[in-house]
Amino acid sequence: MIIATTIAQVREQVSKWKAQGLTIGLVPTMGYLHEGHASLVNKAVSQCDRVVVSDFVNPTQFAPGEDLEAYPRDFEHDCALLRQHGADMVFYPSVEEMYEPDAATYVEILSDMPKMLCGKTRPIHFRGVCTVVAKLFNIVTPDRAYFGQKDAQQLAIIRKMVRDMSYGIEIVGCPIVREPDGLAKSSRNTYLNSEERQAALVLHKALLLGQKMIREGEHDAAKVISAMTESIEKEPLARIDYVSAVDGVTILPVDELQNGVLVAMAVYIGKTRLIDNFTVGE
Ligand code: PAF
Repeated sequence: MIIATTIAQVREQVSKWKAQGLTIGLVPTMGYLHEGHASLVNKAVSQCDRVVVSDFVNPTQFAPGEDLEAYPRDFEHDCALLRQHGADMVFYPSVEEMYEPDAATYVEILSDMPKMLCGKTRPIHFRGVCTVVAKLFNIVTPDRAYFGQKDAQQLAIIRKMVRDMSYGIEIVGCPIVREPDGLAKSSRNTYLNSEERQAALVLHKALLLGQKMIREGEHDAAKVISAMTESIEKEPLARIDYVSAVDGVTILPVDELQNGVLVAMAVYIGKTRLIDNFTVGE
């Protein structure tokens, strides 16, 4: 596996691959890779001739006071996992390589979409995500790019950015990968102590409750959301940021739980903010 730290190295290698007629898959990550990321790499390897994984903790998507400095990092472990899963190149740039000191250009969706759900408490987050993903698209010029459904709002926003900016890139969404007890895999799970790890199961339990109500015929979003909220509130270590039902494409609120509706939540367990979701009918 090639380890590239500069934009020039990536461009040179990708153009060699393209000259051979090979297709390129990109898996953007912030490192500290787990089985969720591995599933994205596996999917990319199955669909593309060459797979590039970016490993970059992107500062522009963190607001002051968020966990940028504390964000877990382990590049050696990341490389071992990527080799095992057949990635061809890891792009591991410095902040200085990705952002000129006087960088002043952002990619931002100006509709309400990035203001919903996580955008309510993280107002600059999706501007940073779109900017870094647009830069990665420009650097790697992939045929396909792979994102996890766990960050469902991010996935919807990237799909919109790709449409609006006419990137000729296929966006592939991949299912949430869970621990055996149901907790969605996340690099931030590492922040949880053992009591919090147990308490974090409340997210998945609430999702199962919502899914059960819908299966049994309840389609009133307010009723399902309120039952899910009540079940989370029973856990003393949990503090809800949001539990919401939104259209899976526009991320705008809905009243009826039809197929394609995204039921999403963000819940603090102690100081750790965890997200999870399901899509009705999937
Ligand atoms: O989902 C992530 O890990 C990040 O938001 C992404 C897409 C790699 C951009 O930094």
